[in-house]
Amino acid sequence: MDASAPKPATAGPVPTGYFRWEPEEDDVLICRAVRNETHDVKTFVLAPRQDRQFEFVSGQFMTFEFEINGETIQRCYTISSPPTRRDTVTITVKRVPGGPVSNWLHDEFQPGMMLKATVPMGEFTWSGMQDTKYLFLSGGSGITPMMAMTRAAYDLALISDIEFVHAARSPDDIIFRDELSFMGRRNHWIKPTFICEKDSPFERWSGIRGRFDHAKLQVICPDFKERVVFVCGPAPFMKAVRELFVEAGFDMSRYHQESFNFESFTEEAQEQIAEATEAITTDVKVFQLEFTKTGRTVECPEGLTVLEAARRAGIRVPSSCSKGLCGTCKSKLTSGSVEMKHGGGIRQREIDAGMALLCCSRPKSDLVIER
Ligand SMILES: Cc1cc2nc3c(=O)[nH]c(=O)nc-3n(C[C@H](O)[C@H](O)[C@H](O)COP(=O)(O)OP(=O)(O)OC[C@H]3O[C@@H](n4cnc5c(N)ncnc54)[C@H](O)[C@@H]3O)c2cc1C
Ligand code: FES
Repeated sequence: MDASAPKPATAGPVPTGYFRWEPEEDDVLICRAVRNETHDVKTFVLAPRQDRQFEFVSGQFMTFEFEINGETIQRCYTISSPPTRRDTVTITVKRVPGGPVSNWLHDEFQPGMMLKATVPMGEFTWSGMQDTKYLFLSGGSGITPMMAMTRAAYDLALISDIEFVHAARSPDDIIFRDELSFMGRRNHWIKPTFICEKDSPFERWSGIRGRFDHAKLQVICPDFKERVVFVCGPAPFMKAVRELFVEAGFDMSRYHQESFNFESFTEEAQEQIAEATEAITTDVKVFQLEFTKTGRTVECPEGLTVLEAARRAGIRVPSSCSKGLCGTCKSKLTSGSVEMKHGGGIRQREIDAGMALLCCSRPKSDLVIER
């Protein structure tokens, strides 16, 4: 993404003599440790079953498969560890009230247990240029990609000015507070600033207080227009930050963002569905899609993806990227066939077993889908 980078300072390819982790061959990771970060955030340290090393770029995520109450669920988690530490990867997960996977991870997932995982992917990546100024802006669990980037910069002792701004509800909610402060003390190029909306029961917040806005940006980072900006956080935070930068006349080609909360992108999804629906003429074929778990059958005019047809009919199918990358919408087709143009979010052996990514699958016949 950071395309002008002359010298990528990721950890580079895995050195000869080491084996690379190959998710096609050995797609299972073992939990080595669980660490408490805050009252509702935990880090899980994951290692390959055999002596292998990971290869990825800071900011990438992996898709994991969970069996919870007899259901197979896919979720993406950003790798919060840097590519400079290759023997394990860590994911840092916030407990989402009512969310099946984050609660299962917090309550059930223990050292020694295993998880299925896919190859690291994603384009919200950082190549860490020397002599470049960055502004990392995160809210809540959106800190994870920036943490991987900053840990890599620290490990590689990059001369790369990083203004690291993290917004949290209260001091108790600041993730990686000690580690960021430690890195900042040891490497003056890393400059963490925490913003809290309110005090914690046992800590009065004496730092910058309130929601992130233009005045705070000016105080924390007056030279923000000279920086490359990375933003990740809850949808309202991301929307507000983006508007702020647009209004400030920031060169948006230097602005990179990722959201974990794709539910809030339904406006965009609705627009896409409306466009796709408009392109459908009256004489197109219409396929019947039966969703066995919800017990609904919906119409899908030729040209729409299964996900678009489901959303159009108000059926909630878990999805994230909508580009065939992350695997969140992977589902079993019990009958029928689709044309699928995916971006790597599904393995050949899964396709052979009748699985499909609903976000990039267009029906070629009526379908029965296990959803
Ligand atoms: C590319 C990518 C990377 C991600 N990386 C991380 C990560 O590093 N750490 C992490 O904790 N989560 C991350 N997520 C979110 C994660 O995949 C799950 O969505 C999250 O753990 C909730 O799963 P769940 O099954 O418990 O609840 P779900 O059923 O998925 O969600 C329940 C509700 O909570 C909302 N929600 C989902 N995630 C969050 C969140 N983080 N904060 C607030 N509301 C949320 C959903 O929109 C939904 O309305 C990432 C998502 C994507 C797409
Ligand atoms: S939503 Fe990401 S692969 Fe379908």
